[in-house]
Amino acid sequence: MKPFPEVNAFSDILCAWYARFGRDLPWRHTRDPYRIWLSEVILQQTRVEQGREYYLRFVGRFPDVRALAAASEEEVLKLWQGLGYYSRARNLHRAARLIAEQYGGRFPERYDEVRALPGVGEYTAAAICSFASDAPLAVLDGNVFRVLARLFDLDLPIDTTQGRRRFAELAASLLPPGRAALHNQAIMDFGALQCTPQQPRCGECPLAEHCLALAAGTVAVRPVKQGRTKVRDRWFAYVVVLCGDELLLHRRDGRDIWRGLYEFPLVERDRPLDAAELPAQEEFAQLTGGAACMWLSSVAMPPHRLSHQLLHATFHRLRVEHLPERLPDGVVRVRAERFDDYAVPRLIERYLTRYPI
Ligand code: ADE
Repeated sequence: MKPFPEVNAFSDILCAWYARFGRDLPWRHTRDPYRIWLSEVILQQTRVEQGREYYLRFVGRFPDVRALAAASEEEVLKLWQGLGYYSRARNLHRAARLIAEQYGGRFPERYDEVRALPGVGEYTAAAICSFASDAPLAVLDGNVFRVLARLFDLDLPIDTTQGRRRFAELAASLLPPGRAALHNQAIMDFGALQCTPQQPRCGECPLAEHCLALAAGTVAVRPVKQGRTKVRDRWFAYVVVLCGDELLLHRRDGRDIWRGLYEFPLVERDRPLDAAELPAQEEFAQLTGGAACMWLSSVAMPPHRLSHQLLHATFHRLRVEHLPERLPDGVVRVRAERFDDYAVPRLIERYLTRYPI
């Protein structure tokens, strides 16, 4: 195994690889911290290909932080529709307003100021500050953990405090002076394209002769994770109530998923709910006012996975002659032709793509 001849050698190899194989991505043509922030928040839980389209959409509509701050949350959520994890969009909007008020619309430059923005964690703050101004901060995302765990054959779990600390020290020690932006982007792309989770291209890897996991035969089991968080099952029975050219929507509220987004009115239980049981449920009676209704269809969607939840959703479509005078809290009447004005979760979009109204 060859040790690196000098401190920058690792970075030199990475950056040479990046110059040949790195991706040309729209947020890599700017040093504007606002645009970098936007791209990083979009990419937090989104693949690059999908993120690119949303990034262009957002910078087109909101070219600077003031424009984003001036928009309504409703508009931001609508533009975000389809990306999931909507708290990112709400935090983006909150942060833009905070920057407009506290920093006169100028994006903050110091790490601690950036880190204090809503929705910005250690990784995102380091990415923004290093990409925008070469601040000497090493980024640590899933790609970087994997590259380092393999290169140094580290079996410390990356989802523990101790593991993270060790990886953070290691990443910082490999950062070349004055080149944080280039180095960080290079190592992230290297993880995404070369040192991939499955079937990494070790045969054509410029770091192969330095890679301890390759020598030890442990590439496939690096990095190590301690354990997964428990997933909660939830059963959603959506009631799609149609009346003339109107339908009912429900705006989600409270401390739960999809706050501020619209969905169909819902009967939720912590067990599967049979379609035949629905009419006996109080929530259902409130929607139809107890009046007779024509049952049009019932369908079950494939389980919908969120980070810590698995949603088992069924959709029950029915037509009523009249809507009740008093609708349950948060439920609104909407003309079907205006439906597209409302931001809805991906699950609802998927249902409507398969079964248009
Ligand atoms: N994932 C998160 N940030 C990224 C970036 N700047 N480029 C490519 N993939 C990313």
